[in-house]
Amino acid sequence: MNERHLYPNPVSVNEAVEHLHNGDVVGMPTETVYGLAGLASNDDAVLKIFQTKGRPRFNPLIVHCADMTMAREIAEFDPLALKVANAFWPGPLTLVLPIKANARISDLVTAGLDTVAIRLPKHPMARRLLSTLGQPVAAPSANPSGKLSPTKAQHVIDAFGGAVPVLDGGACEAGVESTILAIENNRIILLRPGNVTAEMVESEIGIKVNLPDSGKIVAPGMLKSHYAPNAKVRLNAISPNSGEAFLGFGSAAFDGPNCRNLSPKADLAEAAKNLFQYLRELDAMGVATIAVAPIPIEGIGIAINDRLARAAADRTT
Ligand code: TXA
Ligand code: MG
Repeated sequence: MNERHLYPNPVSVNEAVEHLHNGDVVGMPTETVYGLAGLASNDDAVLKIFQTKGRPRFNPLIVHCADMTMAREIAEFDPLALKVANAFWPGPLTLVLPIKANARISDLVTAGLDTVAIRLPKHPMARRLLSTLGQPVAAPSANPSGKLSPTKAQHVIDAFGGAVPVLDGGACEAGVESTILAIENNRIILLRPGNVTAEMVESEIGIKVNLPDSGKIVAPGMLKSHYAPNAKVRLNAISPNSGEAFLGFGSAAFDGPNCRNLSPKADLAEAAKNLFQYLRELDAMGVATIAVAPIPIEGIGIAINDRLARAAADRTT
């Protein structure tokens, strides 16, 4: 049988729930990027996530919950964590919190850490899936490890040769992965920038958001090279060199089949939404290098620059 036709993709929410109960992995839309979900309590399902992605086992996964009741069975929420959760959940934010001793979560999910990453997504289809399932799923982004994150169902179907059932929730609204905050000793630490910016957290919660102490690897998955297209990526480019594709922003843009503009009106949220899709489209043209216009390092632009820096990083190390 042709692998592409293993599943009549896309699948329905009820079919996805059945696959998950059987210990299979499922492509799940969220408002950030698509996730590759499996039952968080089931060692075999979680192992299947790592195997399907080719992900190193030391890199822990995010647990996705339907509601606060589900989340509080897994992690310890101190008053500060509760305040942040109440302000931004459901939404594109992940919290790294102490795991409860009796949490029913496979040890593979946390890669042996005493903390767990938790998220309540707000995408209606993800919420329906989680509430119908009645238990949490572990879900990393649904891309082969190190590659561009998927923002459409078709990206997930193609990435795994049709061998994974996928729920189609349309194009992801945010387009970059969730902001990750660790909360410890009354401090908030930014582990990964995303759509919920440090300024938003500071103004809502009233305390400073810290960057991790330098040199300390806090999110094991934040490898320097990540989110990589096949082409090389050249940052802060004013114009394309001969043979290069160009990813523009605002007025820094060029016309032509090998050119895209992340946001002609220089809107950073629109640019984030288009980022991975346009990198994919330019990469599919088979160019050796994608030149990228400067993106302002402010607001959601911080997350865009973070992902671009990883896409451009030296892949030999
Ligand atoms: O938007 C998102 O967050 C998407 C959607 C599917 O929810 N998921 C996602 O997962 O981006 P993933 O696995 O690609 O990235 C999760 C990051 C990794 O860098 C991992 O190392 C980090 O979260 N992480 C997970 N558990 C952690 C923990 N206990 N402490 C520190 N970092 C953790
Ligand atoms: Mg990822």
